[in-house]
Amino acid sequence: VSGEARLVVATSSASYEVVIADGLLGQAGEYVRKVSDGARCALVTDDNVYGMFGATVSTSLRDAGIEAVEIVVPHGEPSKRWDRAGEVLEQMAAARLERTDLVVALGGGVIGDLAGLCAAVYLRGVGYVQLPTTLLSQVDSSVGGKTGVDLRAGKNLAGAFKQPLLVLADTSALGTLPDEEWRSGLAEVAKAAMLTGSDQVEWMIRNAGALAHREPEAVREAVLAAVRHKIGVVSADEHETGLRESLNYGHTLGHAIERVAGYGVVPHGLAVAEGMRFAARLAVSVLGASAEVASVQDDLLNGLGISQPPYPRDAEALLDAMHADKKARGGTVRFALVPEPGRYVAAAVDDDVLLAEVRAWVEQSDERG
Ligand SMILES: NC(=O)c1ccc[n+]([C@@H]2O[C@H](COP(=O)([O-])OP(=O)(O)OC[C@H]3O[C@@H](n4cnc5c(N)ncnc54)[C@H](O)[C@@H]3O)[C@@H](O)[C@H]2O)c1
Repeated sequence: VSGEARLVVATSSASYEVVIADGLLGQAGEYVRKVSDGARCALVTDDNVYGMFGATVSTSLRDAGIEAVEIVVPHGEPSKRWDRAGEVLEQMAAARLERTDLVVALGGGVIGDLAGLCAAVYLRGVGYVQLPTTLLSQVDSSVGGKTGVDLRAGKNLAGAFKQPLLVLADTSALGTLPDEEWRSGLAEVAKAAMLTGSDQVEWMIRNAGALAHREPEAVREAVLAAVRHKIGVVSADEHETGLRESLNYGHTLGHAIERVAGYGVVPHGLAVAEGMRFAARLAVSVLGASAEVASVQDDLLNGLGISQPPYPRDAEALLDAMHADKKARGGTVRFALVPEPGRYVAAAVDDDVLLAEVRAWVEQSDERG
C-alpha cells in the first residue's frame, strides 16, 4: 500500500519483514501470498476483532487463493491458556490443515501469543503471520518471536520462541481501540523511547498531544520508531540472554503491581509506567544517576496522559510478587535501569535495599495521590 514502511528483522533463526502502513488488513492476502505457498490457513482471532476486521481479512486471503479456517476465541487475557491453545489445535486438526498451511494471528498480544504457540507446535511447527491490531501488539508483542500462554503460577510461564514469516501492522486499525488500551500501548512506546535515546524522548514529548489524540502521522512515526528499536534489540539477542532484558524496563514493579492488585485491575500500561517511574528512582539510588532523568520521563508520561494508578500500597506483597516473576534470578530481583535515555544497565537489587525503596515509593505515592 502507499506510504508503507518496511523494516527487516534478522535473527539467527529467521529473517522477516515488518510492514507498517494504513490499510494493510484489506491487502493482507497479497502480502501473505508472497511469504507462503500454502492453500489454507487458520485465521485465529478474538470475538471483538473478528467483528471488526474478520471479514476484511478473510476476503483478502480468499482473493489471494488462501482459504481461511476461522478460529474465534473469547477476547481477553483468560484466552491465553493451555486448554484454549489445545482447543485451537484441535480445530486446526479437524480442518485438516497441513504442514505447508499457515496460522494467521489477527488481534492483539493475546491472540499473537496464543496463535504463535499453536503455530510452533502444530505438526511440530507451521509458518505464521502476525496481523497486530492493538498499539501494544504493533510496537511490541508481534515482533521478536516470543509466544506463549499463562499458567496458574504466573503469566507467560509456558511458551516457545517462534519467529513469524511476516508482520503487517495496519495503523488505521488502531482508531477503534478503547482509550485504556491506547494508553497501555503508549506506555510501551514511551518505554522504547527511553531505551532509544534523548532525541526520541524529546520527539515524543513534543508530539505527546498528537499521540494522545491518535493523529495518524504521529502514530505512524511512533510505531515505526518503537518497532525499529525492538528489532534492534531482538536481532542482537533473540533469546533474552542479555540486551533483550532491557525491554523489561518498568516491568519488574509493573508485573508485581498487576499481580498484587489482581490481574485486570490495573491496566498493564499504567502498571508498566508506574514501574518506569520507580525504576528511575532506583537508578538514582543504585546507580547514582541524575534525578533529571526521572523528571524528563515524568514529562513524557504525563504528556501522554498516563497517570499514576491506584494499587495496594503493600511493599512486602509487591516484593514477594517480584520474586514470583520470571525476572528474579538466583533469588535476587533484577531490574532494567535507564540511568540516561538510551543507556541501559541490568541491576540485581538485594531484598533489604529493594524493600526499603519500595516502601519509600509507596509512601510518597500515597502523599501524591
Ligand atoms: N510476545 C511478546 O513479546 C509480548 C510482549 C508484550 C506483551 N505480550 C502479551 O500481550 C498481551 C497483551 O496484548 P494486548 O494489550 O494487545 O491485549 P489483547 O490482545 O487482549 O487486546 C486488548 C483488547 O483490545 C481488543 N482489540 C484488539 N484490537 C482492537 C481494535 N483494533 N479495536 C478495538 N479493540 C481491539 C481485543 O479484543 C481485546 O479485548 C499480554 O498477554 C502480554 O503478555 C507479549
